[in-house]
Amino acid sequence: MHVYLGSDHGGFKLKEALKKWLEGTEYKFTDLGCFSEESVDYPSVAREVCEKVLEEPSSRGLLVCGTGIGMSMVANKFPGIRAALCTNEVMAQMAREHNDAQIICMGGRISTDEVGVKMLEVFLKTNFSGEERHKRRIEMMMGK
Ligand code: RB5
Repeated sequence: MHVYLGSDHGGFKLKEALKKWLEGTEYKFTDLGCFSEESVDYPSVAREVCEKVLEEPSSRGLLVCGTGIGMSMVANKFPGIRAALCTNEVMAQMAREHNDAQIICMGGRISTDEVGVKMLEVFLKTNFSGEERHKRRIEMMMGK
């Protein structure tokens, strides 16, 4: 499974911490920026990650801005994307089990590195439950 990473300046430090954790795992990843704490516009970064995830359905995305709110708002405007803004492990787990989210969003000014790592770990290892009711709700959500 490939993981595409993106952040703005507000999420840069947390993205770097998560990248360091990923380096010690089997996951392959690509960092699509940003690459410093210089101010950047989060919609551009979100677009890059969403396009990669849509091109490669088995992949996952991570988007981090100051709060995670802007990144999640932008990502969910891309047809086919389900992006979940998470602040704890349970949300990250449910985002996969119930919502089959492909992208996890976090806030660099909200979550510690430790919580961020736990959320990313559970998000990447958790499968969609495949239960009928969740499938039906996702289809309704996606306008099918
Ligand atoms: C940038 O200062 C900040 O607005 C951004 O990182 C994010 O929190 C937006 O939702």
